[in-house]
Amino acid sequence: MDKLKIEGGYPLKGEITISGAKNSALPLMAASLLSSEILNLDNLPDLMDINSLSELLENMGSKITKGQNSISVDNSDISSTLAPYDIVRKMRASVLVLGPLLAKYGSATVSLPGGCAIGTRPVDMHINALEEMGASIEIKEGYIYAKAPKEGLRGAEIVFPQKSVGATENILMAATLANGTTTIANAAKEPEIEDLAKCLIQMGAKIEGIGTDLLTITGVKNLKSTNYSVIADRIETGTYMIAVAMTGGEVIFKNTRLDFLSALLPILKMAGIDIVELKNGDIKVTRNKNKPLNAVDITTKPYPGFPTDLQAQIMAMLTIADGAAVVDETIFENRFMHVPELARMGADITIKGSSALVRGVKELKGAEVMATDLRASVSLILAGLVANGTTIVNRIYHLDRGYEKLEEKLGACGAKLTRIS
Ligand code: EPZ
Repeated sequence: MDKLKIEGGYPLKGEITISGAKNSALPLMAASLLSSEILNLDNLPDLMDINSLSELLENMGSKITKGQNSISVDNSDISSTLAPYDIVRKMRASVLVLGPLLAKYGSATVSLPGGCAIGTRPVDMHINALEEMGASIEIKEGYIYAKAPKEGLRGAEIVFPQKSVGATENILMAATLANGTTTIANAAKEPEIEDLAKCLIQMGAKIEGIGTDLLTITGVKNLKSTNYSVIADRIETGTYMIAVAMTGGEVIFKNTRLDFLSALLPILKMAGIDIVELKNGDIKVTRNKNKPLNAVDITTKPYPGFPTDLQAQIMAMLTIADGAAVVDETIFENRFMHVPELARMGADITIKGSSALVRGVKELKGAEVMATDLRASVSLILAGLVANGTTIVNRIYHLDRGYEKLEEKLGACGAKLTRIS
């Protein structure tokens, strides 16, 4: 089990190039199943999750050619529509193959993803919506057995009871090949969904309402080949901006955007961080250590609200802010597992239900801590960057699922990180 050793106390100075978004690359790879022609994706992050989904697609008969941060997926000869437990349990986003397989091949056998550390994460909304499109779905022995009508899925008026990124993506993909028109009301509108819709349109899909919570999709006979470049990872961008806020220093961010971080930017500015977009599109983030790091209350919300995927990271910043702040996690029922680990480093945090009261302390102390999920592990690393002394983060395989070359990117800016196998 790899560990990461961090010597705290070094400000970050230098450049960070942001990778393509994991949570866009995964649905885009699933969307390749909607066409029998080749889908070329670039600006793809080199991550475990991408490899897991590649393995799943290859199990089905996909021929995948890997390039430097790119893949070419040839699904002209799909021989199976099974997504087995041993792969799905490692990467729950595999459930995103359900909609495409049903729409294109009329059947799918997909292992239930099961919960994960942050919550039960059911897929009831995915299943209910596909049934409204005519699918017959049976769940037994931990698998989803799905069949489309022989004439194919039919367009339907879907209304999601709550915002769901995955359910919106699954139905959006299924609807592109359904007979007739599908509307999705209360659709999630994360930038990764916009990215997926834009790629589907390039493949020949008919989609209106992109970026809104009402999507209208008119089914077409088939989708074609295209080349698509994955958007920058807004969660990676936000994570490293918070790192600068904590360690002090100045970092130039390359290959990313500001417009998809509209909820984080005001929080960082209120905390005393300067964020400037340079003429060449790069973004300069500066923290003047002489200015106080102000505490700001946080409530996670579906996009464009504050992203739940940045909650653990902003909490790490609040542990050393001036004053107290309340962090309200409204999306997942168990996304505070970083709290006891941060407390081991001297953080003062009190959990009350889905809220955490964080009282800023003067300094954190290095300690041995345990990563539990992707974003919790990176929040412990952020804490280690500023803690007094050495921090060891165990089980950092969680990290490798979502952050490409983290040690290299932070190390190039002066952070002292060493991976211990
Ligand atoms: C996506 O997960 C992301 N994963 C998550 O990122 C992210 O935290 C989440 O959206 C919320 O933004 C990918 O895109 C691969 P949801 P997803 O469906 O689609 C409940 C990371 O760190 N729900 O929007 O699974 C669910 O339990 C990961 O990169 C149902 O009840 O999230 C949750 O409470 C973690 N029934 C809420 O909705 C359903 O059928 C939002 O889940 C579906 C969801």
